Amino acid sequence: MADALKRTVSGMRPTGPLHIGHYFGVLKNWINMQEQDACYYFVADWHALTSDYAAPEHIHTHSAELVKDWLAAGLDPKKCVIFQQSEIKAHAELTLLLGMVTPISWLERNPTYKEQRQEISDKDLGNFGFLGYPVLMAADILLYQPDFVPVGQDQLPHLELTREIARRFNHLYGDFFPEPAARLTHAPKCPGLDGRKMSKSYGNAISLNDSDENIAPKIRGMFTDKNRLRKSDPGNPDSCNLFPYHQLLSDEERQVEIRLGCTSSTLGCVDCKRFFMEKLVAFLEPLRTRRAVLDSNPDLVQEVLREGNTKARAFAESTMTEVRRRMGV
Ligand code: TRP
Repeated sequence: MADALKRTVSGMRPTGPLHIGHYFGVLKNWINMQEQDACYYFVADWHALTSDYAAPEHIHTHSAELVKDWLAAGLDPKKCVIFQQSEIKAHAELTLLLGMVTPISWLERNPTYKEQRQEISDKDLGNFGFLGYPVLMAADILLYQPDFVPVGQDQLPHLELTREIARRFNHLYGDFFPEPAARLTHAPKCPGLDGRKMSKSYGNAISLNDSDENIAPKIRGMFTDKNRLRKSDPGNPDSCNLFPYHQLLSDEERQVEIRLGCTSSTLGCVDCKRFFMEKLVAFLEPLRTRRAVLDSNPDLVQEVLREGNTKARAFAESTMTEVRRRMGV
């Protein structure tokens, strides 16, 4: 890849099948960016361990499934580097070294950390690794000296910490790390089927690998405009839980048609859901075709990772040579 290319890095934790919220929130951005930048995308399996250390049995299978979701969605290993965090030991070494210059107070006041410590009660998150989550993430990012990090809104505090750590390193050891910028998607929100945030743990998600048989009842049960009780009541697309999906998947013309039909009560929610189901099936079609190829070649995912790991390792090692020299080790 030529030097003039901008570099992009991002990762996801292997916590289970991706849903369309992940697709429109982050993955679509990853796929677009592979066309223009030198992109490094990885499975953050060590990050999964920071909270799931007591029940690690699914991390391995979820990692392979995650890569399968990515490839099915359109990440192309010829255009980007796809790798596994735990295979690149430099992520651990850089985490250790960045830990030397990261004040504990920065980690303790991280809003995501405080929130999760309060809200999550089924796991003990008093471990050192969980507090250090953002340091590991800073290492993931800075190793590849990127310009951009495409993430969801919820990751912004972590990315800010990455920049602060980079700044502190540069201050102590001379300018070296860039301060990478977030790349957010501008897509409309993708709520869950029940109006809450789409999340596998709420059971309100449509997965990228759901079959039509799985999807149909989900859509039938989906919330729409809760003030519209009968078809004869005029609806309001702006307070409807289904309309945002049309904004993601239907063309402008169809959206105008739906808005008109809904507000004049000529289009009922059942028909509107049918339109959505058609769009969703059409959207999923190419993903299913690519997934079928992956399913019939069980070694493919491992080959992609092997090749990606080799490329990522080489890049990460060259960064580490410079970091070690600057830090005197
Ligand atoms: N924390 C990110 C998430 O939960 C995953 C992640 C780990 C990541 N390392 C990263 C994202 C580096 C971007 C860059 O979504």
